[in-house]
Amino acid sequence: MSKPLEGVKIIDFTHVQAGPACTQLLAWFGADVIKVERPGAGDVTRSQLRHVKDADALYFTMLNSNKRSLTLDTKTAQGKEVLTKLIQESDVMVENFGPGALDRMGFSWENIQKLNPGMILASVKGFSDGHHYEDLKVYENVAQCAGGAASTTGFWDGPPTVSAAALGDSNTGMHLAIGILTALHQKIKTGKGQKVAVSMQDSVLNLCRVKLRDQQRLDALGYLEEYPQYPHGSFSDVVPRGGNAGGGGQPGWVLKCKGWETDPNAYIYFTIQGHAWAPICKALGKPEWIEDPAYNTAEARQDKIFDIFSFIESWLSDKTKFEAVDILRKFDIPCSPVLSMKEIANDPSLRESGTIVEVDHPKIGKYLTVGSPIKFSDMAVEVKASPLLGEHTDEVLAQLGYSADQIAEMHAARAV
Ligand code: COA
Repeated sequence: MSKPLEGVKIIDFTHVQAGPACTQLLAWFGADVIKVERPGAGDVTRSQLRHVKDADALYFTMLNSNKRSLTLDTKTAQGKEVLTKLIQESDVMVENFGPGALDRMGFSWENIQKLNPGMILASVKGFSDGHHYEDLKVYENVAQCAGGAASTTGFWDGPPTVSAAALGDSNTGMHLAIGILTALHQKIKTGKGQKVAVSMQDSVLNLCRVKLRDQQRLDALGYLEEYPQYPHGSFSDVVPRGGNAGGGGQPGWVLKCKGWETDPNAYIYFTIQGHAWAPICKALGKPEWIEDPAYNTAEARQDKIFDIFSFIESWLSDKTKFEAVDILRKFDIPCSPVLSMKEIANDPSLRESGTIVEVDHPKIGKYLTVGSPIKFSDMAVEVKASPLLGEHTDEVLAQLGYSADQIAEMHAARAV
């Protein structure tokens, strides 16, 4: 079966996580993604946090599957010539270098357009063009701090906290992928390429939309009724950290289950969805709360929400997180066990759906990765091993029209 992006040629000039996550997704969907890497070194993640000596690290293999690798020193004349040919023959170029690096290499957006007016140049930077921090180099946690995630994550009596989820890196890559697909769609109509730019700060902020909602409500009211600080605590003039409170209108919290004293993940997330109050009371063996005016509205429950959570924890004390969810699901209560990475790695449903995939790699053997979270009715996403450094150099150069002698010469000159 042909893949939707078959025939789309992408120069993958990315490194670390934000760019590679984007191009990996496009490679899964059928694009020919050629990863351009510096000879001898390659993407820095190839050697970061290795668990097998001299082999590519999981950080690299899990973000670069289904690609081809071309080594090219784009600061040499020969390297520039090869990149020029690639640009003339490709549809998209994706890059996430530090600010100005592409211009310094001689491939500004203006020059790229001259070489190929149909080219889509997709860039990730820490901050958007013209931003007063536009010159900054940025990694994941820097973006989480700049995008409003850190100031609103964690507990009120602790410092700003970053999330383990790659809100700055992979999330920005996903935003970029949407931008690239949009530009490719537009190109079908106009024949013209365009520049697609996504900043890590903006991408984090896009996911913190409800916190900007809360800032405006706080400005207007002086309190936020769904935060743990209400009604017994106090608010300043900025959105506080709300611990594990539910972000919308449904109060929720992480609650202890049987075994929490020794198992760091013996917890469930429990949501008190307003219209599920009656089933919640039935599940907890508290039918008298269903009609009790002290409990039967969200407003009435608000000042004793943590007493209610304490009561639920006592109900949970003789149940494992899995037993608890098996009971609560029968009452339609939105909840989940807090799953460890080990539990996720071994979850049969995630294996079955292709979300956790086992890949065979020539140097590190079998490893697990996260497959496509997007499922299609007409396409099975097959995750293949990431390329070794320069594995496809000769193949790509030959496809560009270079003879065997010319390729050998480039190797000798260390241009590839
Ligand atoms: N051949 C020759 N030179 C190459 C090359 C190649 N194939 N690939 C990269 N380079 C050069 C670049 O031209 C640049 O040279 P210059 O600075 O002399 O002009 C140099 O390598 C370093 O690039 P840079 O991207 O600035 O690397 P860095 O390691 O200093 O910074 C980041 C890393 C991630 C902080 C930076 O790239 C960045 O801020 N990127 C944008 C935001 C981002 O994506 N962050 C990471 C999210 S995971």
